[in-house]
Amino acid sequence: MTNIMPDQIMTHNQNNSTKTQQAEKPWNGRFTEPTDAFVEAFTASVSFDQRMYQQDIDGSIAHAKMLAHVDVLTEDERDTIIDGLEQIRQKIQCGEFNWSIKLEDVHMNIEAALTDLIGITGKKLHTGRSRNDQVATDIRLYLRDEVDHIINAILGLQNSLINLAEREADTIMPGFTHLQTAQPVTFGHHMLAWFENLERDRSRFIDARKRINIMPLGAAALAGTTYPIDREFTARELGFDYVCENSLDAVSDRDFAIELTANAALLMTHLSRFSEELVLWASAQFNFIELSDSFCTGSSIMPQKKNPDVPELVRGKTGRVNGHLISLLTLMKGQPLAYNKDNQEDKEPLFDTVDTLKGCLKVYADMMQHVSVNKEVMREAAIRGFSTATDLADYLVRAGVAFRDAHEVVGRAVRLGVDTKRDLSEISLTELQQFSNRIQADVFEVLTLEGSVSARNHIGGTAPEQVRAAVKRARSRISNEEPSAK
Ligand code: ARG
Repeated sequence: MTNIMPDQIMTHNQNNSTKTQQAEKPWNGRFTEPTDAFVEAFTASVSFDQRMYQQDIDGSIAHAKMLAHVDVLTEDERDTIIDGLEQIRQKIQCGEFNWSIKLEDVHMNIEAALTDLIGITGKKLHTGRSRNDQVATDIRLYLRDEVDHIINAILGLQNSLINLAEREADTIMPGFTHLQTAQPVTFGHHMLAWFENLERDRSRFIDARKRINIMPLGAAALAGTTYPIDREFTARELGFDYVCENSLDAVSDRDFAIELTANAALLMTHLSRFSEELVLWASAQFNFIELSDSFCTGSSIMPQKKNPDVPELVRGKTGRVNGHLISLLTLMKGQPLAYNKDNQEDKEPLFDTVDTLKGCLKVYADMMQHVSVNKEVMREAAIRGFSTATDLADYLVRAGVAFRDAHEVVGRAVRLGVDTKRDLSEISLTELQQFSNRIQADVFEVLTLEGSVSARNHIGGTAPEQVRAAVKRARSRISNEEPSAK
């Protein structure tokens, strides 16, 4: 977080005599006393909202064009404003802009710089506008860009998983319930389960974009404006799909930010669960997979260690994003209509959510491309866990035994396997027939891992053939849908 706290800028003299220059404040007309320096720093947001300078300038240019379109500004004034704003954009881009906390936020810093640069015409830019609709517009423009990056980053990870699933369509591992070996599954099938989680996440972000891309400008402070503004004109200039219908709602709504953060929290929860699996699988005890060295670190004291830092960190960062969701919900819950200064607190959680999510998705997409799979170890684990027990029960049912009786028979066979340290497929036919005379020589076809997985040959099943078909469908699902309306 980059928030400047008052104690960082207060070096001495913390009493009320520490006053700041009042002349620069655009709103100081009705004030007789200057702002306390501590309060000035406490209320400023420029240290973090300067991140939205591009959106702020784009919004101002569109607003100036609209004002000229409805004859509130002359064409010359419009061009002078646009030219000045473009110069300011350049300056900020080159790191030559002096941000001042005396000017509170990104909006007033840029506006004051414009007036410094072009004189009185700069003071006309804010006609028919308020910082309340301005900031709401900036956040929406910012999130619209970011949501497209997020959607693309999800696609990147989905692609890695599809490739891995295709490569490992035949690889058999134990599938778990309660973290106990349940039935054999294919590793490709397991990877595609995570693909499905991400596909739902992606569709949630695509959906949220619709509610982000609506324009508050024109609401002004809260009630609209007396100028003959053309909101549709500004919305077209900025690429918004619609204008907000109600001015009070326009300046106070932050649902879109909460929604994006909720989607992010759910996505992070998925990555956290996935991380938990990777951490387990990469342990010496499981040894199912190996993460590439470039995604792990060693220990400064234990030479044998190779720690799965990346999945661990992603799991840890989930708490941070979940926290941001709670921050935003709590931020809004007590606010009456319309704008309240509380809303300034929306930005840091939102920015950190976006940064965290993009970082996690990127690192995951790269990491999953470099996972190596220990096929033999996973196979062994599937055999040791009696993972084909259900297959034997199903075999008995097909031979006319009621399922509950079949369950009992197999239970006794497993007991023998445990006692004699053998897998079901290693128990002889005569021994198996002691438990049920319905068992014939063909039983061994279902007791193999390959027989077990390939028998689950329907849409959504784990058979290698189905995994390959699902990989194909997954590829077309992610290529058909464009992430953004652009
Ligand atoms: N920095 C403010 C924010 O982030 C901008 C809007 C301020 N509006 C006001 N009426 N003080 O919300």
